[in-house]
Amino acid sequence: MLAFRVLEGKNVNLRVMEKDDLPLFVEWANKPEFFGEYNPLRQISKAEIEKDYDKSTLEETGFIIEKKDGSKIGYICHFILAHPTGKLLEIGYSLVPSERGKGYGTEAVEIMVDYLFLSKDIMRVQACTDTRNVASQKALEKAGLKKEGILRKGFFSRGEWTDDYMYSILREEWKEPKILTRTV
Ligand SMILES: CC(C)(COP(=O)(O)OP(=O)(O)OC[C@H]1O[C@@H](n2cnc3c(N)ncnc32)[C@H](O)[C@@H]1OP(=O)(O)O)[C@@H](O)C(=O)NCCC(=O)NCCS
Repeated sequence: MLAFRVLEGKNVNLRVMEKDDLPLFVEWANKPEFFGEYNPLRQISKAEIEKDYDKSTLEETGFIIEKKDGSKIGYICHFILAHPTGKLLEIGYSLVPSERGKGYGTEAVEIMVDYLFLSKDIMRVQACTDTRNVASQKALEKAGLKKEGILRKGFFSRGEWTDDYMYSILREEWKEPKILTRTV
């Protein structure tokens, strides 16, 4: 398996989250605006985040999205969802509000998709996003994921049951890296 520490794109890098990043992540995770308008509201303590971090394995990893000047602008992760017939690999992501709409979210998803197909023997990468979340849908589509269906009332968020689109890209659709230029 290829070992990556920093995944370099054109305008952003993904760096595996370290313990030192946890205070910043706690700050982000407790600001409702960090996860955008459509994700569930939640408050989470530093202790819970540390516990999750300590439990995390290569199968479930968080990355800090950094600009080329080293500033930390967001978070992207991949995780495994257990399914009766196998395991499904899903991604999730968020940028700080001031850095949205500049192409960084699309690039982070592209890097992650390249990394996952290069490093893991998987058939598909999937993502779920609220049907009203146009920015997220466009970022996924630009990164090559296809809308495959709707999960009706699958999530409880901000006092209501919400519909999500399921997106995915298959290995045969990915074919080759789109953006991942270099690994160190
Ligand atoms: C979703 C998110 C990661 C997208 O990243 P981003 O850097 O803002 O998106 P990009 O700049 O790469 O833009 C992708 C596309 O969406 C469009 N877009 C960006 N913000 C938009 C908005 N608020 N409304 C509609 N379209 C938007 C862009 O114009 C671009 O499309 P185009 O190339 O056709 O012009 C980011 O907006 C975010 O962090 N949102 C809050 C958290 C969230 O919703 N996470 C996803 C949960 S599934």
